[in-house]
Amino acid sequence: MEDGFGRRISYLRVSVTDRCDFRCTYCMAEEMTFLPRAEVLSLEEIERLCGVFVGLGVRKLRFTGGEPLVRAGVPGVMARVGARHLGQGLEELTLTTNGARLARFAPELAAAGVRRVNVSLDSLKEARFAAITRTGHLPAVLAGIEAAAAAGLAVKINMVALKGVNEDEISPMLAWCGARGFDLSLIETMPLGDMSGRVETHLSLATVRERLCQHWTLRPSAHATGGPSRYWDVAETGARIGFITPLSEHFCASCNRVRLDVKGRLYLCLGHEAAVDLRAPLRAGASDETLDSLVRAAMRIKPERHEFEIGRPAVARYMSATGG
Ligand code: GTP
Ligand code: 5AD
Ligand code: SF4
Repeated sequence: MEDGFGRRISYLRVSVTDRCDFRCTYCMAEEMTFLPRAEVLSLEEIERLCGVFVGLGVRKLRFTGGEPLVRAGVPGVMARVGARHLGQGLEELTLTTNGARLARFAPELAAAGVRRVNVSLDSLKEARFAAITRTGHLPAVLAGIEAAAAAGLAVKINMVALKGVNEDEISPMLAWCGARGFDLSLIETMPLGDMSGRVETHLSLATVRERLCQHWTLRPSAHATGGPSRYWDVAETGARIGFITPLSEHFCASCNRVRLDVKGRLYLCLGHEAAVDLRAPLRAGASDETLDSLVRAAMRIKPERHEFEIGRPAVARYMSATGG
């Protein structure tokens, strides 16, 4: 599948729920209204659409949320999608999680064919972690990460770099991840959904990288996951650090992904409203061929790039609606 700018689209991010047991300050408002069940794709509908996308050339599927593991039955869907498509077109099946339920689900995910998980972890200090996530409990997440590693899953930690909030923990986090063989991705806050505090906490990762270079030996890495992170090898630990810089450096030229939200809308870019509804045709009994042509047609409206500006929401929807 190619978009109108000649980019090959091979990565689908599937948001399987808009719900989450955390309320991270940069991601959600404290009081969120979640969608009623009928609006949300059923697990069978999600499974069918995954098959349609793999048929169209998607090689990497990432389940996201909200928090994917708060929806009952999600590991089962992953197991079925994995059994059917891994090695038959699909190369990677994975998820991004807040880690709180990983202790329970890690073995099931590993058995489903998941090899790698991305876990969000913005602080290693219990009180600070609780303040950032509002409802999160650090020990549960650490136990989840440990269970994932014990189940043989490679772990990448995602840390949103927040000025004046956790910037003092970036170097310690790098050491913590290095000691455990985890890669770390630092993420700039993105202006999605209307929330206060974004301007005050925005931290440019270009500055962070310069500061890290005073203590660590970072060498540009050839490692690429098909995601937006640009990686550097950390000589002292042998692990990698990635920088996701949607604001300070564009990575849209090499964009290879689209997103399916919980309502079955196919979003063509995280920072634009451009979307095509797949739920209505799906529920009206559309054939795989019809769905194929709708998805192919959607590729033509994929925007060239996102236009993020801190302090001005690029789109009104929260990250949790489209899964980041
Ligand atoms: P891997 O590279 O496979 O490890 O994963 P990833 O970085 O693609 O996925 P992950 O879910 O860990 O996302 C990390 C961050 O990258 C999240 O904050 C996402 O919102 C952000 N991200 C992923 N894709 C895009 C994109 O197309 N545009 C922007 N601006 N941000 C993205
Ligand atoms: N800006 C940047 N990253 C965000 N995430 C959630 N909301 C935002 C935002 N507004 C991150 C989470 C998770 C990943 C999927 O997205 O921390 O690691
Ligand atoms: Fe939940 Fe992830 Fe959003 Fe935090 S960033 S509220 S864990 S979806």
